[in-house]
Amino acid sequence: MSWTATVVTLFPEMFPGPLGQSLAGRGLEQGLWRCETRDLRPYGLGRHNAVDDTPFGGGAGMVMRPDVIDAALNDAKRADGAPCVYMTPRGRPLSQTDVRRYAAGPGVTVLCGRYEGVDERVLEAHEIEEVSIGDYVLSGGETAALVLLDACVRLLPGVMGSADSGVEESFSDGLLEYPHYTRPAEWNGRAAPDVLLSGNHAAIAKWRREQSERVTRERRPDLWAARSADSSATGRETP
Ligand code: ADE
Repeated sequence: MSWTATVVTLFPEMFPGPLGQSLAGRGLEQGLWRCETRDLRPYGLGRHNAVDDTPFGGGAGMVMRPDVIDAALNDAKRADGAPCVYMTPRGRPLSQTDVRRYAAGPGVTVLCGRYEGVDERVLEAHEIEEVSIGDYVLSGGETAALVLLDACVRLLPGVMGSADSGVEESFSDGLLEYPHYTRPAEWNGRAAPDVLLSGNHAAIAKWRREQSERVTRERRPDLWAARSADSSATGRETP
């Protein structure tokens, strides 16, 4: 059985969306992964299939009902033990380490919220992992779920095809990527770095490493510090 995403959402037509294109889309056609959706609406209650209700304690917005979400999740949950993830800005920030773990397993069940969010009790009852894709608020979990799935799918065997070698370049060593250049060697008065045209592979590797370190230090002092703190454990030299 191929790696499978099961997305629980009020907007199933948003999937696979952009992941139906390019390499992920080709992988989908080839059966390298599957994208299933479960529409929340039919689980809604009453004449209007309501999935939400007013918050206890008052306040703005609506909250998705635990009984409705529970029924949909029970049908969506799989026997293969795929983790269940709820996309929310309150969640743990998604990292490449998490992505690697999800991609290495049988797939993921992803719950997408709308409105103010989901009743806390159903998250507890289903032991859902809460995941954020960044410190900003989207109008719903669907676009966040697409980001999570994109990051996973590109790591699946065969999806990147001949581009496979590069799939784990950035972040695999906790550094950002070095700058890239291609033809023409000089463009609008800007020359590509000489070393890259030198054919000296050792010098090129050294230059790229130094550039990766510089870019990480300048742009992401948080990543740089985490990496320095790690270096004793990994046997790397402290920079
Ligand atoms: N839903 C709304 N905003 C989100 C975010 N930043 N990450 C994950 N899910 C979300």
